[in-house]
Amino acid sequence: MSSTGSLRAKITGTGMCIPDRVVTNHDLAGLMDTSDEWIRQRTGIVERHWIEEGQQPSELAEKACRDALEAVDLEPSDIDCILLGTLSSQADFPGTSFFLQAALGLEDTPCMDVRAQCSGFLYSLQLANALVRSATYRRVLVVGCEVHSTGLDISTRGRDVSVIFGDGAAAVVVEANDDPADPSEILEVRIHSQGEHAKRLWVEAPGSGISPRINHEMIDDARVFPHMEGRFVFKHAVTRMPEVMLETLGAASLKLEDVDLFLFHQANLRINEFVAQKLEIPADKIYNNIQHYGNCSAASIPILLHECQRDGLIERGQLVSMTAFGSGFTWASTAIRF
Ligand code: ACO
Repeated sequence: MSSTGSLRAKITGTGMCIPDRVVTNHDLAGLMDTSDEWIRQRTGIVERHWIEEGQQPSELAEKACRDALEAVDLEPSDIDCILLGTLSSQADFPGTSFFLQAALGLEDTPCMDVRAQCSGFLYSLQLANALVRSATYRRVLVVGCEVHSTGLDISTRGRDVSVIFGDGAAAVVVEANDDPADPSEILEVRIHSQGEHAKRLWVEAPGSGISPRINHEMIDDARVFPHMEGRFVFKHAVTRMPEVMLETLGAASLKLEDVDLFLFHQANLRINEFVAQKLEIPADKIYNNIQHYGNCSAASIPILLHECQRDGLIERGQLVSMTAFGSGFTWASTAIRF
């Protein structure tokens, strides 16, 4: 999408919600054969937050949405549509967005879940951008929300995956920008997928292609937990992320040097260091927070964005590049002028 059209979309408010319960690497070492040293060295993660028993994904999402709306003096009723990226739906159906919509006190505002795993926020952002540019809606709430902790194999058998995931939610308000003097704009969003590799990082069951969808055998065989070919995923992530970032910047007639801040999906600090090194991006232009939250999939990028906004790291007029890679495989990038 080019910026030559009269209708433009911009990100205004941001908000986030992280559960209070902190789970350190040392805590995990008490549950499985792992160590703080292994987790830090391989992933950069020091701690993550997991929900308390009974806490719902939509509760995290609601808090994040209310914060984002409050930041720009809006009420939930000012929103025309809600798009929620998640891979950890609150129920098998309907999606988490419906529980969120009710929690926000909305009666008939359209909402939907976008299932694109760690790229879910950027996929949703592309839809929101298109909906605003096409004048379908003026204000769209874009949410990333994950509760991984209830679906992990917290034993040595699942240690390669379980140590990387955290819970959390974050939201942004995407609004029409009619003011020609206001430079704020979602300049470009590019998304890709490759289903050929769907089973390289997936949770097989419950699934509608299996009858019954869940049974004791599946639980015993750990088919209800995430399985990942870590090295294969790593290799693809460090190839696809630079590729889509450059494609996105190029489509917006921008160069890497024009970017003031890079926000990468928080899957593994090593992936982000690798990407930065490959593209010769200076460390002071990158903000990471995986150390404290782990991988929150669709919520990772909006959490990063909110923290940067909150801490004054993004000045008006600055250019921010955000890039993700995840299960599917999916990968995506955006270039945004704030
Ligand atoms: N603690 C201690 N040892 C462990 C752990 C652990 N938590 N996990 C695995 N190990 C062991 C393995 O058993 C193996 O032991 P062995 O050599 O005796 O067989 C050894 O450590 C190395 O295991 P690898 O899996 O080869 O470790 P690797 O260096 O690949 O690191 C990691 C694993 C961190 C998961 C890495 O592969 C990775 O980050 N992959 C990409 C993750 C990613 O980007 N995911 C996409 C987003 S997530 C999403 O979309 C949902």
